[in-house]
Amino acid sequence: MMPYTPRTTEALADDGLISQAALHGFCADGYGVLPQAVTKTELERLQAESARLIQRFTEDGHRCDDYWHFTPAGAEAPVLYRIHNLENQGSPAAAQLYADGGPLHPLAEALLGATVRATACALIVKLPGVAAPVPWHRDRTEVPPHTVCNLSVFLDDSDAGNGCLEFVPGSHLLPDDEETGELQQRGRVRALTLMAGDVAVHDVRIAHASRRNTSPRIRRSIVIEFAPTGLELS
Ligand code: NI
Repeated sequence: MMPYTPRTTEALADDGLISQAALHGFCADGYGVLPQAVTKTELERLQAESARLIQRFTEDGHRCDDYWHFTPAGAEAPVLYRIHNLENQGSPAAAQLYADGGPLHPLAEALLGATVRATACALIVKLPGVAAPVPWHRDRTEVPPHTVCNLSVFLDDSDAGNGCLEFVPGSHLLPDDEETGELQQRGRVRALTLMAGDVAVHDVRIAHASRRNTSPRIRRSIVIEFAPTGLELS
C-alpha cells in the first residue's frame, strides 16, 4: 500500500468540496474518484466493523436475509458477497454514513447539486479466491443522468487482481433500454484502481461490472446510494 494521506472534510471544503476534475468526470464519464475522502480514523472503524460482520457469517454461521451468499457448484461452503441494509447490522460507523448529516452527504450534494438523502447502504464483499464476477448491469435507469449516485467507500486497495470496478464511460447518457452486454463490447471499458480510503462515485445509470477475485486479497467496499430529498425511488 502507498503512503496514506488522509483528507478531512474541511480540506475537501477548502477545494470547494470536490475537485473540478472529479465533478467533470462524474458528469461526462458517469464515474470518478474522490481520493482519500474518509479520515484514517473513520476508515479504521469501518474496516474493523466490516471484519466483524464478515466473521459472523464465515465463522459464527450467522445467516439472515440481509447476508447475500451463493454456493459454488461442487462446493459446500457458501460464499458471502453482500450485506444488505448495512445501517441495521449493529455497525455504528456504517450506520452514520447512511444517517442524515453523514460525512458523505456533502460530497453527494456537491455532485448532484441538490440536498440529498441516503436511500440504500450495503457492504460489498469479494472474498479472496472464491468471489464470483458481477455481470455488466446498470443499477437504475428510471431516473435521468446526474440525478442519483452511488458512493463506494473502499476499505481495501482494489485492482484488476481482486475484482476492481469496471465502467463503460459515458454509458449513463445512453437510452434506458440499451443492452448492457453490448455496451461493454462496443464501448471502451475502464478499470478503476483504488486505494483504501478512496471513494468511488458513479451515476446509477452507468454500465459497470467487476471480475472474479483471483488474488489472496479481500476487496470490501461500502456502497451508499444518494438521491435528491423528495425524489421517490422504486
Ligand atoms: Ni451495481
